[in-house]
Amino acid sequence: GETYDFVVVANRLPVDSVTQPDGSTGWRMSPGGLVAALEPLMKASDGAWIGWPGAPDVEVEPFEHEGIRMVPIALNEQEIEFYYEGFSNDTLWPLYHDVIAQPTYHREWWETYVDVNRRFADAAARVSDHGATVWVHDYQLQLVPGMLRESRPDLTIGFFNHIPFPAYGIFSQLPWRQQIISGLLGADVIGFQRVADAGNFTRAVRRLFGYETKGSRVWVPVGDSSDATTGDRSHVRGAPVRRVIARAFPISIDATSYVELAKDPSVQARAKQIREELGNPKTIMLGVDRLDYTKGIGHRLKAFGELLAEDKVSVEDVTLVQVASPSRERVASYMQLRDEIELTVGRINGDYGSIGHTAISYLHQGYPREEMVALYLAADVMLVTALRDGMNLVAKEYVATRADLGGVLILSEFAGASDDLRQALLINPHDIEGVKDAIMQAIGMPESEKRRRMRALRKRVLENDVVKWSRVFLEELAGATTAHPVSH
Ligand code: G6P
Repeated sequence: GETYDFVVVANRLPVDSVTQPDGSTGWRMSPGGLVAALEPLMKASDGAWIGWPGAPDVEVEPFEHEGIRMVPIALNEQEIEFYYEGFSNDTLWPLYHDVIAQPTYHREWWETYVDVNRRFADAAARVSDHGATVWVHDYQLQLVPGMLRESRPDLTIGFFNHIPFPAYGIFSQLPWRQQIISGLLGADVIGFQRVADAGNFTRAVRRLFGYETKGSRVWVPVGDSSDATTGDRSHVRGAPVRRVIARAFPISIDATSYVELAKDPSVQARAKQIREELGNPKTIMLGVDRLDYTKGIGHRLKAFGELLAEDKVSVEDVTLVQVASPSRERVASYMQLRDEIELTVGRINGDYGSIGHTAISYLHQGYPREEMVALYLAADVMLVTALRDGMNLVAKEYVATRADLGGVLILSEFAGASDDLRQALLINPHDIEGVKDAIMQAIGMPESEKRRRMRALRKRVLENDVVKWSRVFLEELAGATTAHPVSH
C-alpha cells in the first residue's frame, strides 16, 4: 500500500462523520487546534493521520479529506468500553490529573489498552515510509512509541502528552507503570505541557529504571532492558545507549483564526445579541469547559453562589453563562459530576434568581466556533478554575479573541496556561475566598488596567501560536535523530 513520510497518530481522526438530510454520510473536519497546526504540514509533506473515527465499528478504508490522508482504526463496542472509556478515561485520566477522581484499575482494561495500542502501532508501521517521522499524541497511545521502535527502528518517533504528567508518588499507583514508561521511551522526543510535567517524567524514569538523566536528556540502553528493573546503572555504563529528549513544549491555539472571527461583523452582532438576551447585565461572566471533574466547575459555582448569598453581587447586575459540553458520558465519574453540577445550578438559580434574571445560564451543549467567539466577546469576565489541566486552551482562545483589549481572565494556577499567562488574575480554585476576591476585583477593575493586562496576555498568545508549537517540536525531533545513535 501507500506509504507516507510524515505520520500523525492520535486517538481521534480530525474529522467527524456527518449524515446528510438525504441519508448519505460524509466527513467534516473537526475544528481542533491540532489539525489547524498540522494541516499545512500534512499537505506540504506527504502526510497521513491515523485515528479512531469516533463511533463503534466504523470499518472504513483509508480516505482523503481536504488533502489529508485519513487512516481509520476501527474500535468495537468492547474496545471503546475497555480502552477508551475504561483505561484511558477511568484509569489514566484521573491518575494523571492528581486523582481528583478515584482511578479504577482493571486488568482487562489494561489488556485491551495494549491490544489497541498495538493496532495503532501496526498501522503506523504499515503506512510509514522508510525513515519517516511519526508523531504520536496523548495518553491514550503511550505504548505506541515503544512498539514502533521495535518494529521500525528506522523511524523518527515523537510523542506529545497533552495532559499533565503526575508526580511519582501518584504515578507509582499504576500497576503497569513500568510498561508505560518503557512505551514512552521508545520515542526520540517526548513532549510535555509544563516544565513540571517533564520533571515528573524524568524522575519516574530514574525511580523505576535507574537510567541516567540530565536536564531534558535521558539515556536509554539499547536492546534488552530487562536488567534495568534492578535500577543498576552499571548496566547502562559502557553499553550502547539511545538519547531521548523529554521536555516542555506548551501547546497553543491557531490564534489568527480567533482574531479573524472576532472581526467578523456577524460574530460581533451575535455578541451584542447575547448581551441583550441576557438582559443587558453590567457583568457577564463566562465558563467554557467540557463537563469534566478536572475543570473545577463546582468550585466556581460555589464562589458565585456565596457572592450572591452575601449580597456582594445581584442577579440584576451579574450573570454567569456556563457552557459545559457533554463529554465521556458513559463513564461513571462523569455521570456523577453531571448530577452534582446540575443540582448546584438548580439550587443557586432557585435561591437567588428573580423573574427575568437567572443567576446561571447553564448549557449542556457543544457550539460551533463562531458562537464561542461571540460568547468570548460578550464576556466581561472569563472564569478558568481548573483543579488540574494540561494547558487549558479556552484561556488562550478568550485572550486571542479580545482584540478590543476588554475583558478580564481569571485563571487557575493549576492550568498549564498559567505558566505563560501571568497577567491574568491567578487563583487557587480550592481557595473559595480567593476566587470570590478575584471575581470582585475583575468586576470592579478599571478599564485602563483591563487593557494593560489584556495587551500583555495577547502578546504572549499571538507570539506563540500552535503553528509555532508544532514547528518547535518537529525541529527538536529532527535534531534529536541526527544526534543519535550515540555511545555514552
Ligand atoms: C483532552 C485530551 C484529548 C481529547 C480531548 C477530548 O483534551 O487531551 O486527547 O481528545 O480531551 O476528549 P475525548 O475523550 O472526547 O477525545
